[in-house]
Amino acid sequence: MTITQEDELIGLKEIGRIVANAVEAMSTTLEPGMTTAELDAIGRKVMEDEGARPAPELCYGFPGATCISVNEEIAHGIPGDRTIRQGDLVNIDVSAEKHGFFADTGASFAVPPVSKSVLKLCRDGKRAMWAGIRTVATDRPLADIGNAVGDFARRNRYTLVKNLASHGVGRSLHEEPGEIATWPDRSERRRMTEGLVFTVEPFLSMGAEWADDGDDDPWTLFSAPRAPTVQYEHTVVTTKNGPIVVTLPG
Ligand code: CO
Ligand code: CO
Repeated sequence: MTITQEDELIGLKEIGRIVANAVEAMSTTLEPGMTTAELDAIGRKVMEDEGARPAPELCYGFPGATCISVNEEIAHGIPGDRTIRQGDLVNIDVSAEKHGFFADTGASFAVPPVSKSVLKLCRDGKRAMWAGIRTVATDRPLADIGNAVGDFARRNRYTLVKNLASHGVGRSLHEEPGEIATWPDRSERRRMTEGLVFTVEPFLSMGAEWADDGDDDPWTLFSAPRAPTVQYEHTVVTTKNGPIVVTLPG
C-alpha cells in the first residue's frame, strides 16, 4: 500500500507492534524441549489478545498462526510436533491483520550452545537487513536495497538466497509493488515512492543460494545447498527523511 494519511500510518504501526511483540514473546520462551506447535500457540495468543488475525492462515490457509523454520528449513515451516533442541537455528516469521492493515516481521534465533560462526551469522543477518533498510528513501532506486545487501554479503563472505524476495505489504500480506530483490538485480528499474510500504527481509547464508520445495508438505522451503541460513525482516514505510520501521515491539 501507499500511505497518504496519518490514520493509515497509525493503523499500520499498531499491527506492526503486535507482530513484533509476538516474535519477542516467542523468542523469549524459546527453549530446548518445547515443540514448534507450543511456540506457535504463544504467538497466536499475543495476536488474538490484541484482536489481530494471523495472516498466513487468513490469506493462504497456512496450517499455523506463525511460520517456524528450523535448521535446514528456512521459510514457511509448519508448527507441529518437532522438538526444539540445543544448537538449533530457529526462524520465527509473524504476519497479521488488524482493521484491514497487515504487517510482517521475522527473525532467526540460535538455541545455545551454538558455534561462534552461527552466532556471527545471526548478528550479520541483522546487519544485512539494516544495510538494506538504510537505503530506503523517497525517489531512491529500489535496486539500492539489493545492492546494499549484496555488498554486505560479499564483503563478509556470505551467500544470499535468491528466490525469496521482499514484497509490498499493508492492505494485504503480499501486494504491489510485488517482489523486491534483496540481492543485486540489474533488471530492477523502479523507484521507492513516497509512502510506499514494503518488507526488507534478506536471507543471509553460509552457503545456500536458493530455497527449495521439499517433498514433505506444500509449504516448507529448505536451504539449497543445505547451509545455516538466517532471515531478519521488518515492514517499512518510505519517506523523504528515510524509512519508518513499523514492526518494533512496544
Ligand atoms: Co515474514
Ligand atoms: Co515477508
